Amino acid sequence: MVRLARIALPLLVLLPATLAAQDPAVPRPPHRPPEVTDSAIAAGDSLFHGIAGCSGCHGPRGIGTDSGAPIGQGIWMHGPDTYAGILGRILHGVPRQFSTRGLAMPMRGWADMSDAQAKAIAAYVWEISHRFPQEPGH
Ligand code: HEC
Repeated sequence: MVRLARIALPLLVLLPATLAAQDPAVPRPPHRPPEVTDSAIAAGDSLFHGIAGCSGCHGPRGIGTDSGAPIGQGIWMHGPDTYAGILGRILHGVPRQFSTRGLAMPMRGWADMSDAQAKAIAAYVWEISHRFPQEPGH
């Protein structure tokens, strides 16, 4: 009996903890694509708020303005929620006729970003739109 308790007791303690860890009701942050590295996010952050001009239309951290859609919430109008999809919209822009704001999204932003710069910006946009839990203002 004592021996049984020695085995059963740790199980009773561990089991609820294991179940809680796998509870599907607890949302998890999505897995980062390999392109979304810390250094790409940091480079994209300064381009987004700097020479690429993204924040001029999309607001700081992509909260959106009258001139650009919110792009930090993970809710998209013009394509998929993937790194490749986000990069595609940055490279190709959004033509005026598809825009809900009567304004075109310029290809590669204001300052014609290089491929490497566009990829860094896409990493930053992926990161802010997949952050969990969403922080206020993101
Ligand atoms: C001149 C303003 C302007 C600038 C600068 C700009 N955008 Fe946009 N962007 C827009 C507009 C307008 C849309 C379409 C919004 C709509 O349909 O309401 C858009 C759409 C997008 C979308 C697609 C959103 C969706 O819902 O699918 C992404 C992603 C995006 N922009 C990222 C960027 C990034 C990153 C930059 C900087 C490289 C940038 N934009 C620079 C105006 C701009």
